[in-house]
Amino acid sequence: MRVLSGIQPTGRFHWGNYFGAIRQYIALQGQEQSFFFIADFHALTTIRDRDLLRQNIRDAAMDLLALGLNPDRACLFRQSDVPEVTELTWLLMTITQMHLLEKCHAYKDKKAKGLAADAGLFTYPVLMAADILAYDSTHVPVGADQIQHVEVARDLAQRFNSIYGDCLQLPEAMVLPESAKVPGLDGEKMSKSYGNTIDIFETPKKMRKKIMSITTDSTAVESPKNADTCTVFELYRLFADEQRQAALRQRYEAGGMGYGEAKEQLFQAAMEMFGPAFERRAALEANPDQLEDILRQGAAKARARAQEVLARVREACGLLAKPV
Ligand code: ADP
Ligand code: TRP
Repeated sequence: MRVLSGIQPTGRFHWGNYFGAIRQYIALQGQEQSFFFIADFHALTTIRDRDLLRQNIRDAAMDLLALGLNPDRACLFRQSDVPEVTELTWLLMTITQMHLLEKCHAYKDKKAKGLAADAGLFTYPVLMAADILAYDSTHVPVGADQIQHVEVARDLAQRFNSIYGDCLQLPEAMVLPESAKVPGLDGEKMSKSYGNTIDIFETPKKMRKKIMSITTDSTAVESPKNADTCTVFELYRLFADEQRQAALRQRYEAGGMGYGEAKEQLFQAAMEMFGPAFERRAALEANPDQLEDILRQGAAKARARAQEVLARVREACGLLAKPV
């Protein structure tokens, strides 16, 4: 099993990112080989401020390490440190049919809103396919919204193999169904673009304030409440074990509990889960050279594998295995 995933450094990570995606990568580290990268080339389709991009890349790396990504068990690197990936993107582009990209949601959604999309966004799924195929990845843990892109990678690998002979490994998406949609403050899907996020590394004071602002219904304090339709409880389930969930559910059903109390419990549970990561993050922040070393060592390992794959691919198409 060779696991690979990437995450875009487009802002600070929120609970949706953690439960929908990051948590899975961390659980899978230490497989035969695992690669996790910061998708900075992808982020260039939306961020065009160099200082912001640099800061986001550093923040993304520190967040992942603080949350438990262990560089001895998984290779953490920046996408842009492996130029073989952009080379593979071109080779794949030459066999990518337009209709395959026209139906991909990143581009289709933007076009449906009447916004101008550039070629980077249109061809983004090909870059993502190269990200996956350049390392012979077998399993790709992603959030539910990325399944379509992993399917594109599969389709392109199949098409490449049918033209040039068996050469690329077909990858499979892995999705955790129970965390497919983490709700935000307003009960809609938590997303940066909806402004309804709770960031993982929010200061405790800000996190508490945000939790207190989660939308709830107007059931009176003394009345019984329905845990299953409550955003606070939906979030609490992500943090608490079954016993604690059952205890809070009982408080909902018995009546006499205001939503403020449930929110307080959610805050406590979140602090318990993320508290140790806060400390690890502060240590990383104090040592920028160590961070850079981890990313460089990660890139060197990832690149060695990508070079092997690229030699195979170049030769299959009739090019020299290595540029002179
Ligand atoms: P955002 O919607 O805030 O821009 P991204 O699209 O950058 O987040 O998401 C990065 C990863 O986190 C993706 O794999 C995505 O599936 C996952 N993810 C984001 N928001 C959620 C959510 N609310 N629930 C589950 N997974 C999510
Ligand atoms: N497109 C993914 C996202 O927006 C990030 C990503 C880029 C990725 N390349 C990847 C994820 C390869 C998995 C595998 O969330």
